[in-house]
Amino acid sequence: MNVTSATKLLAVIGDPVRHSLSPLMHNGWIADYGLDAVYTALPLKSDDATSVIRSMKALGFTGLNVTVPHKEAAARAADRTESEVANTLRWEDDGTLSAFNTDGLGFIDALTETAPDWRGRVSRIFIIGAGGAGLGIGKALSAYADTVHFANRTLARAEAAASAVPNGRVLRWEDLERGFGAADLIVQTTTLGMVGQLSHDWPVRLCRSTVIVADIVYKPLETDFLRAARARGLVAMDGLGMLIHQGARAFELWFGVKPDTQKARARLLAALGG
Ligand code: ATR
Repeated sequence: MNVTSATKLLAVIGDPVRHSLSPLMHNGWIADYGLDAVYTALPLKSDDATSVIRSMKALGFTGLNVTVPHKEAAARAADRTESEVANTLRWEDDGTLSAFNTDGLGFIDALTETAPDWRGRVSRIFIIGAGGAGLGIGKALSAYADTVHFANRTLARAEAAASAVPNGRVLRWEDLERGFGAADLIVQTTTLGMVGQLSHDWPVRLCRSTVIVADIVYKPLETDFLRAARARGLVAMDGLGMLIHQGARAFELWFGVKPDTQKARARLLAALGG
């Protein structure tokens, strides 16, 4: 990589962000396509991320990815946005800033890769967790489902998510078993099962044999949830799929090129040690 004063600048901003795999993923694609660009990770601790983001235009940034806790600020910083929660920003030639959210479509791309026939199989969706990730995925999937049930440790957040999604419903945390038994698609969006966090004994035994399960955790790549699902022969999708496909859509927004997602997966697997 030959970085000069002409090199395009991109970054992921968030807090924390040092653990992010996005630089590895995007710099790999930048090299694949011989682009004069570089992508880094910038930790941003600020109560006014909107101002910080707007001022990055003066530093000549081409685009940004935005992660927790600045996705709302990113949408506010933009001159136009497709969502009030943005994970991708792009400065246009006229100096204005456009905001996008590629998380939902990235999840759908990953799901389509894992289970190409999912649209014909899924009508009852069960989302475990009602944080930013759970809500974003629920919104993106809502149009394809009869119902989207949310269960969350903190009930109020499940209620808020359910009311933000047209066919959203609440399932109480105590009723997880009912959700597992009824769903055609189960998406685990909490931090449970992540390295260093608590695990949970999900009632996978109650799942329908045709269910598709997905976990957005990718450290470890095979969570206890996915292992239990695969042991039952269920279709199971790991958390790298969404990470890669949301990134691929962001890359295409900046460079107009659909990057090679299989190459990204190989690089990320090597970095994760498997
Ligand atoms: P994100 O925006 O990435 O989804 P988040 O908003 O912090 O992150 O959400 C984390 C999710 O993990 C929430 O659903 C959270 O539940 P609460 O809303 O009750 O906090 C869930 N979570 C984290 N630790 C948990 C635990 N020990 N048991 C159950 N759920 C947990």
